[in-house]
Amino acid sequence: MDTTAPTVGLDPAIDTLPASFRWGVATSAYQIEGAHEEDGRTPSIWDTYCRTPGMVHDGDNGDVACDHYHRMPEDVALIGSLGVDTYRFSVAWPRVQPGGRGPVNPAGLAFYDRLVDELLAKGIDPWVTLYHWDLPQELEDAGGWPARDTAYRFADYSMLVFDALSDRVREWTTLNEPWCSAMLGYYEGRQAPGRQDFGAAIHAVHHLLLGHGLATQRMREAATGPTGFGITLNMSHSSPATDSEVDREAARRADGLSRRIYLDPLVKGHYPEDVVADLARRGVTIPVRDGDLEVIRQPIDVLGVNYYSSHRFSGVDEQGNTTDADGLPVDRTVRFGLPVTAMDWEIIPEGFTELLVQLGREYPGVPMVITENGAAFDDEADETGFVRDADRTAYLESHIAAVAKARELGADVRGYFAWSLMDNFEWSYGYEKRFGLVHVDYATQVRTPKSSALWYRDTIRRVRGS
Ligand code: NOJ
Repeated sequence: MDTTAPTVGLDPAIDTLPASFRWGVATSAYQIEGAHEEDGRTPSIWDTYCRTPGMVHDGDNGDVACDHYHRMPEDVALIGSLGVDTYRFSVAWPRVQPGGRGPVNPAGLAFYDRLVDELLAKGIDPWVTLYHWDLPQELEDAGGWPARDTAYRFADYSMLVFDALSDRVREWTTLNEPWCSAMLGYYEGRQAPGRQDFGAAIHAVHHLLLGHGLATQRMREAATGPTGFGITLNMSHSSPATDSEVDREAARRADGLSRRIYLDPLVKGHYPEDVVADLARRGVTIPVRDGDLEVIRQPIDVLGVNYYSSHRFSGVDEQGNTTDADGLPVDRTVRFGLPVTAMDWEIIPEGFTELLVQLGREYPGVPMVITENGAAFDDEADETGFVRDADRTAYLESHIAAVAKARELGADVRGYFAWSLMDNFEWSYGYEKRFGLVHVDYATQVRTPKSSALWYRDTIRRVRGS
Protein backbone atom coordinates (compact mmCIF):
# COMPACT_ATOMS: atom_id res chain seq x y z
CA MET A 1 0.00 0.00 0.00
CA ASP A 2 1.22 3.53 -0.84
CA THR A 3 1.77 4.92 2.62
CA THR A 4 2.90 8.28 1.31
CA ALA A 5 -0.51 9.25 -0.07
CA PRO A 6 -1.73 12.47 1.52
CA THR A 7 -4.38 12.28 4.19
CA VAL A 8 -7.21 14.66 3.43
CA GLY A 9 -8.87 16.84 6.02
CA LEU A 10 -10.95 15.54 8.85
CA ASP A 11 -14.33 16.87 9.89
CA PRO A 12 -13.83 17.69 13.59
CA ALA A 13 -17.03 15.82 14.47
CA ILE A 14 -15.20 12.58 13.69
CA ASP A 15 -12.83 13.27 16.58
CA THR A 16 -15.75 12.89 18.98
CA LEU A 17 -16.04 9.17 18.19
CA PRO A 18 -14.76 7.04 21.06
CA ALA A 19 -11.62 4.92 20.80
CA SER A 20 -13.85 1.87 21.35
CA PHE A 21 -15.88 2.57 18.18
CA ARG A 22 -15.97 -0.47 15.87
CA TRP A 23 -14.57 -0.01 12.37
CA GLY A 24 -15.03 -2.37 9.49
CA VAL A 25 -15.38 -3.08 5.82
CA ALA A 26 -18.15 -5.13 4.25
CA THR A 27 -18.76 -7.42 1.26
CA SER A 28 -21.21 -10.14 0.26
CA ALA A 29 -20.70 -13.63 -1.13
CA TYR A 30 -22.20 -13.40 -4.61
CA GLN A 31 -20.64 -10.00 -5.21
CA ILE A 32 -17.04 -11.14 -4.68
CA GLU A 33 -16.57 -14.91 -4.45
CA GLY A 34 -16.91 -16.26 -8.01
CA ALA A 35 -16.26 -20.06 -8.11
CA HIS A 36 -19.93 -20.47 -8.90
CA GLU A 37 -19.73 -24.18 -9.61
CA GLU A 38 -16.99 -25.18 -7.22
CA ASP A 39 -17.07 -27.61 -4.30
CA GLY A 40 -20.70 -28.50 -4.77
CA ARG A 41 -22.25 -25.02 -4.99
CA THR A 42 -25.57 -25.02 -6.85
CA PRO A 43 -27.27 -22.05 -8.56
CA SER A 44 -28.95 -19.29 -6.61
CA ILE A 45 -31.63 -16.95 -7.91
CA TRP A 46 -28.83 -14.55 -8.89
CA ASP A 47 -27.14 -17.10 -11.15
CA THR A 48 -30.48 -17.55 -12.89
CA TYR A 49 -31.30 -13.84 -13.03
CA CYS A 50 -27.91 -13.00 -14.52
CA ARG A 51 -28.54 -15.54 -17.27
CA THR A 52 -31.86 -13.94 -18.15
CA PRO A 53 -31.16 -11.61 -21.08
CA GLY A 54 -31.58 -7.91 -20.36
CA MET A 55 -31.58 -8.15 -16.56
CA VAL A 56 -27.98 -7.22 -15.75
CA HIS A 57 -25.87 -4.49 -17.31
CA ASP A 58 -23.67 -5.86 -20.11
CA GLY A 59 -24.84 -9.41 -19.33
CA ASP A 60 -22.43 -9.51 -16.37
CA ASN A 61 -22.65 -12.23 -13.72
CA GLY A 62 -20.94 -13.43 -10.55
CA ASP A 63 -19.30 -16.53 -12.06
CA VAL A 64 -15.82 -15.15 -11.36
CA ALA A 65 -16.46 -11.76 -9.70
CA CYS A 66 -13.35 -10.84 -7.65
CA ASP A 67 -12.31 -14.50 -7.51
CA HIS A 68 -12.26 -14.10 -3.75
CA TYR A 69 -12.92 -17.82 -3.26
CA HIS A 70 -9.40 -18.49 -4.56
CA ARG A 71 -7.74 -15.33 -3.24
CA MET A 72 -9.16 -15.23 0.26
CA PRO A 73 -5.87 -15.14 2.24
CA GLU A 74 -4.59 -12.27 0.07
CA ASP A 75 -7.87 -10.42 0.62
CA VAL A 76 -7.76 -10.93 4.37
CA ALA A 77 -4.24 -9.50 4.38
CA LEU A 78 -5.63 -6.49 2.51
CA ILE A 79 -8.36 -6.07 5.12
CA GLY A 80 -5.67 -6.24 7.81
CA SER A 81 -3.69 -3.49 6.09
CA LEU A 82 -6.67 -1.12 6.44
CA GLY A 83 -6.49 -1.37 10.21
CA VAL A 84 -10.17 -2.25 10.66
CA ASP A 85 -11.23 -4.46 13.54
CA THR A 86 -14.22 -6.09 11.81
CA TYR A 87 -14.94 -7.74 8.47
CA ARG A 88 -18.59 -8.18 7.54
CA PHE A 89 -19.12 -10.88 4.92
CA SER A 90 -21.98 -13.13 3.93
CA VAL A 91 -22.25 -16.89 3.69
CA ALA A 92 -23.57 -18.31 0.41
CA TRP A 93 -26.53 -20.55 1.19
CA PRO A 94 -26.15 -22.58 -2.07
CA ARG A 95 -22.55 -23.36 -1.10
CA VAL A 96 -23.29 -24.55 2.41
CA GLN A 97 -26.59 -26.31 1.74
CA PRO A 98 -26.95 -26.83 -2.01
CA GLY A 99 -30.57 -26.75 -3.08
CA GLY A 100 -31.57 -25.11 0.22
CA ARG A 101 -32.55 -28.29 2.11
CA GLY A 102 -30.92 -31.31 3.62
CA PRO A 103 -27.45 -31.88 5.02
CA VAL A 104 -24.54 -29.51 5.06
CA ASN A 105 -22.05 -29.54 2.19
CA PRO A 106 -18.72 -29.86 4.06
CA ALA A 107 -16.62 -28.61 1.14
CA GLY A 108 -18.66 -25.40 0.85
CA LEU A 109 -18.68 -24.79 4.58
CA ALA A 110 -14.93 -25.35 4.77
CA PHE A 111 -14.34 -22.12 2.87
CA TYR A 112 -15.98 -20.06 5.63
CA ASP A 113 -14.19 -22.07 8.27
CA ARG A 114 -10.87 -21.11 6.69
CA LEU A 115 -11.97 -17.50 6.25
CA VAL A 116 -12.90 -17.18 9.92
CA ASP A 117 -9.59 -18.67 11.03
CA GLU A 118 -7.66 -16.42 8.68
CA LEU A 119 -9.45 -13.34 10.02
CA LEU A 120 -8.92 -14.28 13.65
CA ALA A 121 -5.25 -14.95 13.00
CA LYS A 122 -4.99 -11.33 11.80
CA GLY A 123 -6.92 -9.99 14.81
CA ILE A 124 -10.03 -9.14 12.75
CA ASP A 125 -13.51 -9.96 14.11
CA PRO A 126 -15.67 -11.91 11.66
CA TRP A 127 -19.22 -10.53 11.32
CA VAL A 128 -21.45 -13.00 9.48
CA THR A 129 -24.49 -12.12 7.41
CA LEU A 130 -26.46 -15.30 6.78
CA TYR A 131 -28.51 -14.09 3.83
CA HIS A 132 -27.33 -11.51 1.34
CA TRP A 133 -29.81 -12.30 -1.46
CA ASP A 134 -28.51 -15.60 -2.89
CA LEU A 135 -31.55 -17.84 -2.34
CA PRO A 136 -30.99 -21.38 -3.67
CA GLN A 137 -32.84 -21.58 -6.99
CA GLU A 138 -34.59 -24.77 -5.91
CA LEU A 139 -36.28 -22.88 -3.08
CA GLU A 140 -37.42 -20.20 -5.51
CA ASP A 141 -38.84 -22.94 -7.73
CA ALA A 142 -40.78 -24.12 -4.68
CA GLY A 143 -42.27 -20.62 -4.18
CA GLY A 144 -39.37 -18.49 -2.91
CA TRP A 145 -39.83 -15.97 -0.09
CA PRO A 146 -43.56 -15.50 -0.77
CA ALA A 147 -43.91 -19.13 0.40
CA ARG A 148 -44.00 -19.65 4.16
CA ASP A 149 -41.85 -22.76 4.01
CA THR A 150 -38.81 -20.70 2.96
CA ALA A 151 -38.72 -19.13 6.44
CA TYR A 152 -38.28 -22.58 8.00
CA ARG A 153 -35.68 -23.56 5.41
CA PHE A 154 -33.76 -20.39 6.30
CA ALA A 155 -33.77 -21.24 10.00
CA ASP A 156 -32.45 -24.74 9.27
CA TYR A 157 -29.70 -23.38 7.04
CA SER A 158 -28.79 -20.75 9.66
CA MET A 159 -28.32 -23.46 12.24
CA LEU A 160 -25.95 -25.38 9.96
CA VAL A 161 -23.74 -22.31 9.72
CA PHE A 162 -24.14 -21.39 13.39
CA ASP A 163 -23.21 -24.88 14.57
CA ALA A 164 -20.03 -24.75 12.51
CA LEU A 165 -18.82 -21.23 13.21
CA SER A 166 -20.29 -19.98 16.47
CA ASP A 167 -17.32 -21.19 18.47
CA ARG A 168 -15.39 -18.35 16.76
CA VAL A 169 -17.98 -15.92 15.36
CA ARG A 170 -19.61 -13.58 17.88
CA GLU A 171 -21.71 -11.33 15.63
CA TRP A 172 -24.58 -12.64 13.53
CA THR A 173 -26.84 -10.80 11.12
CA THR A 174 -29.72 -12.83 9.75
CA LEU A 175 -30.85 -10.87 6.69
CA ASN A 176 -29.36 -8.10 4.63
CA GLU A 177 -31.89 -5.52 3.44
CA PRO A 178 -35.12 -7.55 3.33
CA TRP A 179 -36.76 -4.56 1.58
CA CYS A 180 -34.59 -5.27 -1.46
CA SER A 181 -35.29 -9.01 -1.38
CA ALA A 182 -39.03 -8.41 -1.18
CA MET A 183 -39.68 -5.21 -3.11
CA LEU A 184 -36.96 -5.24 -5.76
CA GLY A 185 -37.05 -9.02 -6.13
CA TYR A 186 -40.79 -9.73 -6.13
CA TYR A 187 -42.49 -6.42 -6.94
CA GLU A 188 -40.28 -4.20 -9.07
CA GLY A 189 -38.39 -7.10 -10.66
CA ARG A 190 -35.16 -5.08 -10.65
CA GLN A 191 -33.38 -7.80 -8.70
CA ALA A 192 -33.53 -11.60 -8.58
CA PRO A 193 -35.82 -13.42 -8.96
CA GLY A 194 -37.32 -10.61 -11.06
CA ARG A 195 -41.00 -11.16 -10.28
CA GLN A 196 -43.52 -8.30 -10.45
CA ASP A 197 -46.34 -9.03 -8.05
CA PHE A 198 -47.03 -6.64 -5.18
CA GLY A 199 -49.01 -9.18 -3.18
CA ALA A 200 -46.20 -11.72 -3.47
CA ALA A 201 -43.73 -9.07 -2.31
CA ILE A 202 -45.75 -8.41 0.86
CA HIS A 203 -45.90 -12.14 1.55
CA ALA A 204 -42.12 -12.15 1.09
CA VAL A 205 -41.77 -9.34 3.68
CA HIS A 206 -43.59 -11.40 6.28
CA HIS A 207 -41.74 -14.62 5.57
CA LEU A 208 -38.36 -12.90 5.59
CA LEU A 209 -39.19 -11.48 9.02
CA LEU A 210 -40.47 -14.85 10.18
CA GLY A 211 -37.26 -16.48 8.94
CA HIS A 212 -35.26 -13.91 10.91
CA GLY A 213 -37.26 -14.68 14.07
CA LEU A 214 -37.08 -18.45 13.73
CA ALA A 215 -33.36 -18.40 13.04
CA THR A 216 -32.62 -15.94 15.85
CA GLN A 217 -34.62 -17.97 18.37
CA ARG A 218 -32.78 -21.17 17.52
CA MET A 219 -29.33 -19.63 17.34
CA ARG A 220 -29.76 -17.83 20.65
CA GLU A 221 -30.85 -21.05 22.32
CA ALA A 222 -27.78 -22.83 20.96
CA ALA A 223 -25.28 -20.06 21.79
CA THR A 224 -22.69 -21.02 24.36
CA GLY A 225 -20.85 -17.71 24.79
CA PRO A 226 -21.64 -14.01 24.46
CA THR A 227 -23.15 -13.65 20.99
CA GLY A 228 -24.85 -10.73 19.26
CA PHE A 229 -27.84 -11.19 16.95
CA GLY A 230 -29.44 -8.74 14.62
CA ILE A 231 -30.72 -7.85 11.19
CA THR A 232 -29.59 -5.25 8.67
CA LEU A 233 -32.11 -2.87 7.12
CA ASN A 234 -31.56 -0.34 4.35
CA MET A 235 -33.09 2.92 5.36
CA SER A 236 -33.24 6.53 4.36
CA HIS A 237 -34.79 9.57 5.96
CA SER A 238 -38.19 10.20 4.39
CA SER A 239 -39.60 13.71 4.46
CA PRO A 240 -42.50 15.51 2.73
CA ALA A 241 -41.60 17.74 -0.24
CA THR A 242 -43.83 20.50 1.21
CA ASP A 243 -45.79 20.89 4.39
CA SER A 244 -49.06 20.08 2.63
CA GLU A 245 -51.24 17.30 4.01
CA VAL A 246 -51.04 15.35 0.77
CA ASP A 247 -47.21 15.43 0.73
CA ARG A 248 -47.00 14.50 4.41
CA GLU A 249 -49.26 11.53 3.70
CA ALA A 250 -47.01 10.45 0.81
CA ALA A 251 -43.94 10.59 3.08
CA ARG A 252 -45.78 8.63 5.75
CA ARG A 253 -46.77 5.91 3.27
CA ALA A 254 -43.26 5.64 1.83
CA ASP A 255 -41.67 5.52 5.28
CA GLY A 256 -44.22 2.92 6.36
CA LEU A 257 -43.56 0.56 3.49
CA SER A 258 -39.79 0.93 3.49
CA ARG A 259 -38.92 1.17 7.20
CA ARG A 260 -41.67 0.78 9.79
CA ILE A 261 -43.14 -2.39 8.20
CA TYR A 262 -39.86 -4.07 9.23
CA LEU A 263 -38.95 -2.30 12.46
CA ASP A 264 -42.34 -2.27 14.16
CA PRO A 265 -42.86 -6.06 14.10
CA LEU A 266 -39.17 -6.65 14.92
CA VAL A 267 -39.06 -4.31 17.89
CA LYS A 268 -42.67 -3.71 18.94
CA GLY A 269 -44.25 -7.01 17.93
CA HIS A 270 -46.91 -5.65 15.55
CA TYR A 271 -47.25 -4.28 12.04
CA PRO A 272 -47.99 -0.54 11.91
CA GLU A 273 -51.75 0.07 11.68
CA ASP A 274 -51.45 2.74 9.02
CA VAL A 275 -49.38 0.42 6.80
CA VAL A 276 -51.88 -2.40 7.23
CA ALA A 277 -54.65 0.04 6.18
CA ASP A 278 -52.61 1.28 3.18
CA LEU A 279 -52.09 -2.33 2.10
CA ALA A 280 -55.78 -3.15 2.54
CA ARG A 281 -56.60 -0.31 0.14
CA ARG A 282 -54.40 -2.11 -2.37
CA GLY A 283 -56.22 -5.39 -1.70
CA VAL A 284 -53.26 -6.97 0.11
CA THR A 285 -53.17 -8.64 3.54
CA ILE A 286 -50.04 -9.60 5.42
CA PRO A 287 -50.22 -13.40 5.91
CA VAL A 288 -49.79 -13.39 9.69
CA ARG A 289 -50.59 -16.61 11.56
CA ASP A 290 -51.07 -17.02 15.29
CA GLY A 291 -47.77 -16.76 17.10
CA ASP A 292 -45.83 -15.27 14.17
CA LEU A 293 -45.41 -11.85 15.73
CA GLU A 294 -43.98 -13.30 18.95
CA VAL A 295 -41.46 -15.20 16.84
CA ILE A 296 -40.53 -12.12 14.81
CA ARG A 297 -40.06 -9.96 17.90
CA GLN A 298 -36.76 -11.32 19.15
CA PRO A 299 -34.42 -9.16 21.21
CA ILE A 300 -32.07 -7.36 18.82
CA ASP A 301 -28.55 -6.91 20.14
CA VAL A 302 -27.51 -4.80 17.17
CA LEU A 303 -29.61 -3.23 14.46
CA GLY A 304 -27.58 -3.02 11.26
CA VAL A 305 -28.23 0.22 9.36
CA ASN A 306 -27.32 0.55 5.68
CA TYR A 307 -27.51 4.16 4.50
CA TYR A 308 -26.79 5.66 1.10
CA SER A 309 -29.22 8.55 0.52
CA SER A 310 -32.50 10.13 1.65
CA HIS A 311 -35.77 10.95 -0.06
CA ARG A 312 -38.50 13.58 -0.20
CA PHE A 313 -42.01 12.67 -1.25
CA SER A 314 -44.94 14.38 -2.85
CA GLY A 315 -48.47 13.06 -3.08
CA VAL A 316 -49.06 15.01 -6.31
CA ASP A 317 -47.77 13.92 -9.71
CA GLU A 318 -46.33 16.27 -12.33
CA GLN A 319 -49.79 16.78 -13.86
CA GLY A 320 -51.28 17.74 -10.51
CA ASN A 321 -53.08 14.40 -9.86
CA THR A 322 -53.21 12.88 -6.40
CA THR A 323 -54.18 9.41 -7.62
CA ASP A 324 -52.71 7.24 -10.36
CA ALA A 325 -54.41 5.29 -13.16
CA ASP A 326 -55.32 2.51 -10.69
CA GLY A 327 -56.87 4.98 -8.28
CA LEU A 328 -53.99 4.59 -5.81
CA PRO A 329 -52.48 7.61 -4.05
CA VAL A 330 -49.44 9.11 -5.76
CA ASP A 331 -46.04 8.66 -4.06
CA ARG A 332 -43.56 10.67 -6.07
CA THR A 333 -39.94 11.21 -5.06
CA VAL A 334 -38.83 14.79 -5.41
CA ARG A 335 -35.15 15.56 -5.80
CA PHE A 336 -33.32 17.93 -3.47
CA GLY A 337 -31.16 19.05 -6.38
CA LEU A 338 -27.96 17.97 -4.60
CA PRO A 339 -24.83 16.41 -6.15
CA VAL A 340 -25.13 12.70 -6.90
CA THR A 341 -22.92 9.61 -6.91
CA ALA A 342 -22.45 7.41 -10.00
CA MET A 343 -25.63 5.58 -8.94
CA ASP A 344 -27.47 8.89 -9.36
CA TRP A 345 -28.14 8.85 -5.62
CA GLU A 346 -28.16 12.31 -4.02
CA ILE A 347 -25.47 12.91 -1.41
CA ILE A 348 -27.27 13.76 1.84
CA PRO A 349 -25.22 13.20 5.01
CA GLU A 350 -27.71 15.34 6.99
CA GLY A 351 -30.37 12.72 6.23
CA PHE A 352 -28.10 10.12 7.81
CA THR A 353 -27.95 12.08 11.07
CA GLU A 354 -31.71 12.64 10.97
CA LEU A 355 -32.41 8.96 10.32
CA LEU A 356 -30.18 7.74 13.16
CA VAL A 357 -31.62 10.22 15.63
CA GLN A 358 -35.13 9.23 14.54
CA LEU A 359 -34.32 5.52 15.00
CA GLY A 360 -32.92 6.17 18.46
CA ARG A 361 -36.05 8.08 19.40
CA GLU A 362 -38.62 5.67 17.92
CA TYR A 363 -36.88 2.43 18.91
CA PRO A 364 -35.03 3.21 22.13
CA GLY A 365 -32.74 0.62 23.62
CA VAL A 366 -31.70 -0.87 20.28
CA PRO A 367 -27.97 -0.32 19.68
CA MET A 368 -27.00 0.32 16.07
CA VAL A 369 -24.03 -0.37 13.86
CA ILE A 370 -23.70 1.08 10.38
CA THR A 371 -23.29 -2.16 8.44
CA GLU A 372 -22.96 -0.35 5.10
CA ASN A 373 -22.26 3.14 3.84
CA GLY A 374 -20.26 4.20 0.83
CA ALA A 375 -20.47 5.43 -2.72
CA ALA A 376 -19.87 4.51 -6.35
CA PHE A 377 -18.01 7.02 -8.47
CA ASP A 378 -16.55 6.81 -11.96
CA ASP A 379 -13.03 6.05 -10.81
CA GLU A 380 -10.07 6.43 -13.08
CA ALA A 381 -7.05 4.32 -12.27
CA ASP A 382 -3.58 5.55 -13.30
CA GLU A 383 -1.07 3.25 -15.02
CA THR A 384 -0.17 1.69 -11.66
CA GLY A 385 -3.82 1.00 -10.83
CA PHE A 386 -3.98 3.78 -8.22
CA VAL A 387 -7.21 5.78 -7.96
CA ARG A 388 -7.28 9.26 -6.43
CA ASP A 389 -10.92 9.22 -5.36
CA ALA A 390 -11.32 12.52 -3.55
CA ASP A 391 -15.09 12.30 -4.19
CA ARG A 392 -15.41 8.98 -2.35
CA THR A 393 -13.19 10.23 0.47
CA ALA A 394 -15.37 13.32 0.85
CA TYR A 395 -18.47 11.11 0.90
CA LEU A 396 -17.01 8.89 3.63
CA GLU A 397 -15.83 11.84 5.66
CA SER A 398 -19.18 13.64 5.60
CA HIS A 399 -21.09 10.45 6.41
CA ILE A 400 -18.83 9.34 9.24
CA ALA A 401 -19.15 12.87 10.62
CA ALA A 402 -22.93 12.52 10.26
CA VAL A 403 -22.78 9.37 12.42
CA ALA A 404 -20.69 11.19 15.02
CA LYS A 405 -23.23 14.05 15.08
CA ALA A 406 -26.09 11.57 15.54
CA ARG A 407 -24.24 10.07 18.50
CA GLU A 408 -23.85 13.52 20.01
CA LEU A 409 -27.63 13.90 19.62
CA GLY A 410 -28.24 10.66 21.50
CA ALA A 411 -28.28 7.91 18.85
CA ASP A 412 -26.59 4.74 20.16
CA VAL A 413 -24.36 3.94 17.17
CA ARG A 414 -21.44 1.67 17.99
CA GLY A 415 -19.64 1.11 14.72
CA TYR A 416 -19.25 1.89 11.04
CA PHE A 417 -18.48 -0.48 8.15
CA ALA A 418 -17.59 0.95 4.77
CA TRP A 419 -19.20 -0.52 1.68
CA SER A 420 -17.19 -1.98 0.18
CA LEU A 421 -13.80 -3.49 0.79
CA MET A 422 -13.22 -3.69 -2.96
CA ASP A 423 -14.97 -3.06 -6.28
CA ASN A 424 -17.38 -5.90 -6.97
CA PHE A 425 -20.49 -7.13 -8.76
CA GLU A 426 -23.06 -4.39 -8.19
CA TRP A 427 -26.11 -6.58 -8.88
CA SER A 428 -28.11 -5.43 -11.91
CA TYR A 429 -25.50 -2.72 -12.57
CA GLY A 430 -22.86 -5.40 -13.10
CA TYR A 431 -19.21 -4.40 -12.73
CA GLU A 432 -19.71 -0.90 -14.09
CA LYS A 433 -20.41 0.66 -10.72
CA ARG A 434 -17.46 0.66 -8.35
CA PHE A 435 -18.01 1.00 -4.60
CA GLY A 436 -14.63 -0.29 -3.43
CA LEU A 437 -12.05 1.30 -1.18
CA VAL A 438 -9.76 -0.98 -3.14
CA HIS A 439 -9.65 -0.93 -6.93
CA VAL A 440 -10.00 -4.27 -8.71
CA ASP A 441 -8.62 -4.75 -12.20
CA TYR A 442 -11.00 -7.48 -13.37
CA ALA A 443 -8.68 -8.56 -16.21
CA THR A 444 -5.81 -9.36 -13.84
CA GLN A 445 -7.58 -9.48 -10.45
CA VAL A 446 -4.95 -7.08 -9.11
CA ARG A 447 -6.18 -5.17 -6.07
CA THR A 448 -4.91 -1.63 -5.44
CA PRO A 449 -6.05 0.44 -2.45
CA LYS A 450 -7.52 3.79 -3.55
CA SER A 451 -6.68 7.03 -1.77
CA SER A 452 -10.00 6.65 0.10
CA ALA A 453 -8.68 3.41 1.61
CA LEU A 454 -5.61 5.23 2.91
CA TRP A 455 -7.77 8.02 4.29
CA TYR A 456 -10.01 5.45 6.00
CA ARG A 457 -7.00 3.67 7.52
CA ASP A 458 -5.56 6.97 8.80
CA THR A 459 -8.92 8.09 10.17
CA ILE A 460 -9.34 4.88 12.13
CA ARG A 461 -5.85 5.24 13.56
CA ARG A 462 -6.51 8.80 14.55
CA VAL A 463 -9.82 8.08 16.27
CA ARG A 464 -8.28 5.17 18.11
CA GLY A 465 -5.40 7.36 19.11
CA SER A 466 -2.93 4.78 17.86
C1 NOJ B 1 -26.70 -2.52 -0.40
C2 NOJ B 1 -26.41 -3.96 -0.62
O1 NOJ B 1 -26.46 -4.65 0.60
C3 NOJ B 1 -25.10 -4.20 -1.32
O2 NOJ B 1 -25.10 -5.53 -1.72
C4 NOJ B 1 -24.95 -3.23 -2.46
O3 NOJ B 1 -23.81 -3.50 -3.24
C5 NOJ B 1 -24.87 -1.83 -1.90
N1 NOJ B 1 -26.11 -1.55 -1.20
C6 NOJ B 1 -24.67 -0.74 -2.94
O4 NOJ B 1 -25.77 -0.68 -3.78
